[in-house]
Amino acid sequence: MLPAVKFLDYHALSPSLQDQFKELHSILLPVRYGEAFYHNLLTKRDRISLVAVVESAEDQNQGACVVGFVTGRIKNYGECCTTCTGYVMTLGTSNDFRGKGIGGRLLDVLIVRLQDLGAVHIDLHCTTTNEAAIALYVSRGFTLIQKLEEHYHFHEKLHDAFFFSLKGTATLQGTCQTWCSSFVMSLHRYCCGWQ
Ligand SMILES: CC(C)(COP(=O)(O)OP(=O)(O)OC[C@H]1O[C@@H](n2cnc3c(N)ncnc32)[C@H](O)[C@@H]1OP(=O)(O)O)[C@@H](O)C(=O)NCCC(=O)NCCS
Repeated sequence: MLPAVKFLDYHALSPSLQDQFKELHSILLPVRYGEAFYHNLLTKRDRISLVAVVESAEDQNQGACVVGFVTGRIKNYGECCTTCTGYVMTLGTSNDFRGKGIGGRLLDVLIVRLQDLGAVHIDLHCTTTNEAAIALYVSRGFTLIQKLEEHYHFHEKLHDAFFFSLKGTATLQGTCQTWCSSFVMSLHRYCCGWQ
């Protein structure tokens, strides 16, 4: 039987939750991610990583337990662009906590964060057989752009992928941040002679 949940919270990934976060990735996702992937999530400004965390009502000493995650990035962060693209890298909910709205909530927050960073489109890939994930993406307005034959390699086999995209408008805050960042970088290039 599942332990009673004291509360469910959503927040940014912190170093103290990194080990649990990595373990859940390796349990839920067939693709293996290297150390650089996890390191970059905590250090690069163009990455966003969020976790869903529960605390047990019965065991106060058990501490926070990561039961879901989502990660994403801006592909051309800081570049002068009007079509800044966001990308959903990974998403997962622990088996025991599925169907409770956790994956959907994590994805919703990621979409807003990517739009705040200037993303006008948000792209993702997923395997063509992943019915739960496909239903979730379609429910959030993602549209199927393309089927990519043999896109993934895992479990010693090639697997087809769907490429999905969410077309939308970056928030005003995000657009301003992107323009300001582009302006500062152009000025810096001009003054300092960057190529
Ligand atoms: C895909 C996944 C993240 C969904 O997480 P979840 O927390 O169970 O999702 P939610 O409860 O927020 O469900 C949101 C929506 O997803 C869809 N969905 C979720 N599970 C589903 C299932 N088993 N079958 C069909 N649709 C499903 C529904 O549209 C649902 O909307 P609803 O609540 O209106 O029914 C989860 O199944 C998972 O971790 N899978 C393994 C890892 C994975 O495949 N990640 C995606 C890689 S591309």
